[in-house]
Amino acid sequence: MHNQHIHSITIVGAGTMGNGIAHVCAMAGFPVKLMDSSEGQLRVALQTIKKNLTRMAEKQKIKPIEVSTSLARIQTYTNIKQAISDADIVIEVVPEQLSLKKLVWSQIEQDIDPKRLKQTIFATNTSSISISELAEGVTHPENMIGMHFFNPVPVMSLVEIILGNKTSEQTFKTVELLTRELGKTPIRVHDFPGFVSNRILMPMINEAIYALHEGVADKEAIDQVMTLGMAHPMGPLRLADFIGLDVCLNIMNVLHKGFQDAKYTPCPLLREMVDKGHLGNKTGRGFYIYEV
Ligand code: 3HC
Repeated sequence: MHNQHIHSITIVGAGTMGNGIAHVCAMAGFPVKLMDSSEGQLRVALQTIKKNLTRMAEKQKIKPIEVSTSLARIQTYTNIKQAISDADIVIEVVPEQLSLKKLVWSQIEQDIDPKRLKQTIFATNTSSISISELAEGVTHPENMIGMHFFNPVPVMSLVEIILGNKTSEQTFKTVELLTRELGKTPIRVHDFPGFVSNRILMPMINEAIYALHEGVADKEAIDQVMTLGMAHPMGPLRLADFIGLDVCLNIMNVLHKGFQDAKYTPCPLLREMVDKGHLGNKTGRGFYIYEV
């Protein structure tokens, strides 16, 4: 079944998650408008998408021709008004700050053709920001929904779909179908701190950091317990580096504040590493050392 509502997708933000989402949308056959205020970021995003598509072709997950046909579906923009002119859905993928996300959505509302405003779906890729709170600032909160993708987007099959307190069933149904068309599995959740994914994942990571901090074992041993004993593809400390220690700390703070429960207190070692700028893969140093 083809999605009758979604013909054109605009993605605002071309970082790691933005380029991953553009990759899967284009591969699924949708025209994609990828917008970022930085030309440089857009160039890097296109290079990354090309590299990842090529890798998939080499591994025979897609046909070689699909590398170029998928890439040809992606247009890049630095101008938001042009990027959203015919969007049926805008997927916003800017950094995890409520004020920034609010600003971007108010800009989108200002720039969108008023005739399209009522029917355009506003999806936000967020790991922990409340959809209901974000939707307070928009004219049609029934059209706003959370689409939480997982890194690396082309590989991970989950999209956690978050309904805010005003999200309509129609919006959910359209996004649920779109997610399936992207080859992913939508899981419906409600708007609680950390949703389901990070409410479970982050306390596990935080606990692993406590285990390291308290000297229960060294980092490799802690990670091996979880890879060999629980069949996790990465140990929690390596995964924390992969996600970004600043992101992990931010989510722990959201859980701590949201539930007012001491069990979500971020480990002091996590705070210390973030203070020192040791944020994981992206800075070359976290619990492990990386080439940047
Ligand atoms: N694009 C396309 N394919 C990719 C890719 C990418 N960006 N990255 C990896 N792959 C493919 C590889 O080609 C390979 O394919 P194959 O199975 O056919 O050989 C497969 O994925 C595995 O990759 P590698 O062999 O290079 O390496 P690994 O086996 O070590 O897997 C990994 C890498 C997929 C990242 C794996 O370690 C993993 O699944 N880790 C856990 C990731 C995870 O938990 N992500 C969620 C983070 S939480 C999050 O994002 C939410 C936020 O709110 C915090």
